[in-house]
Amino acid sequence: VSLPTDPDRPKGADTVRISVHAGGGVYDVLIGRALSHLGEEMARLGLLREGGRIFIGHDDALPASTIEAVAGPLAKAGARITTAGISASERGKTIRGIEPFLAQLAHSRHERGEPVIALGGGIIGDLVGFAAAIYRRGVPVIQVPTTLLAMVDASIGGKTAVNLEVDGNLMKNLVGAFHQPRLVIADTALLASLPSRQMRCGLAECIKHGMIGAEFGEAALLEWIEQNAESILARHPGALSELVARNVAIKAAVVAQDEREDADKGGRALLNLGHTFGHAVETVESALPEGESTPGIQHGEAVALGLVAATHCAEAAGLCDTSLRWTQRITSIVQRCGLPIRAVGLPPADEIFARMTHDKKVRGGILRLVLPVAPGRAELIADPPREAVIAGIRSISARS
Ligand SMILES: NC(=O)c1ccc[n+]([C@@H]2O[C@H](COP(=O)([O-])OP(=O)(O)OC[C@H]3O[C@@H](n4cnc5c(N)ncnc54)[C@H](O)[C@@H]3O)[C@@H](O)[C@H]2O)c1
Repeated sequence: VSLPTDPDRPKGADTVRISVHAGGGVYDVLIGRALSHLGEEMARLGLLREGGRIFIGHDDALPASTIEAVAGPLAKAGARITTAGISASERGKTIRGIEPFLAQLAHSRHERGEPVIALGGGIIGDLVGFAAAIYRRGVPVIQVPTTLLAMVDASIGGKTAVNLEVDGNLMKNLVGAFHQPRLVIADTALLASLPSRQMRCGLAECIKHGMIGAEFGEAALLEWIEQNAESILARHPGALSELVARNVAIKAAVVAQDEREDADKGGRALLNLGHTFGHAVETVESALPEGESTPGIQHGEAVALGLVAATHCAEAAGLCDTSLRWTQRITSIVQRCGLPIRAVGLPPADEIFARMTHDKKVRGGILRLVLPVAPGRAELIADPPREAVIAGIRSISARS
């Protein structure tokens, strides 16, 4: 992969292309000023032809200009376009929520072999991607992510899913399918309208990637984020495309190594770094990030808190060398990215620990945590010492 290195690179400079090997095939992710290549890429894949149908399922909160930027050139090329707006909510990301979308596909007489474009963040990517996986037993899907999280994570790797309500509880991503996209277009200009809090949430996943990057050919990512946090938050085009490209390179390498998350050690499971701690605090309704006034912890903020907690836990368990001052370094990067390092209103550490042992990563009653063991490296640790986990939780609990 050849990456642009100058964060001041002018708009209009090259697009980066990264290939993902998965599902017995290969597909490309185009990053940067990528949308202008959508038509030619689809034509190359045999997915754009005169009179052919293309269905675009998009987040209904997107600016009209974003939808037009995708649909306009394809219509001009002679394709018959149908668009459907979908509200991005976890409550709507369900089997019931997907049905009207499937009905619209049928109503437009969408045939097998004709593509569906998922235009939106991770919710739309998962929902539209799952619909594409099951409609007529599978139609091609193209992911056009519009959030940082979807660009660096959700749009790549072919996981699609909806939530399932079980006894009044929403079980996240319980029903789904692997359905690799044929193409991913990560145009960083689409991030212009993304709220800042969402932007920061996506950055949490990038920091996480940096903490495992050494295994996947990106040993210097964390340092790069540290040095470029301001340009990223200011949404400098060059910084954004380099950020997305470096992160896509990691996600592509992880997926190529362990497409279906069945590796015993390493692989896709490493992407859960920070998530077990994170899930446990995300579900506490009364909690909020220190310094925020709106109640509730967003997923990316929970991941950031989880990364801080996991690092403290690893240090307390003697897994990573304290002379590296790793906890200070992670805490400072998280802060520079405008993400929380502590939460207010959390229950006692014992209660959070109990929540963690109910997490889906607990197999056979044993808690398994992905913990950092060295700069850029993490490992799945079975049954970490309870006191170390508690130390991790305490490190992110601010007194209310
Ligand atoms: N399939 C995977 O591998 C994978 C990986 C990680 C996360 N996910 C899923 O992704 C979802 C979270 O994704 P997300 O963080 O992108 O959230 P999201 O899709 O809910 O988008 C976040 C918010 O930003 C808005 N938005 C999106 N793009 C915008 C833009 N360009 N301008 C203005 N507003 C915009 C949305 O309407 C929404 O309110 C979760 O459901 C999670 O399960 C899937």
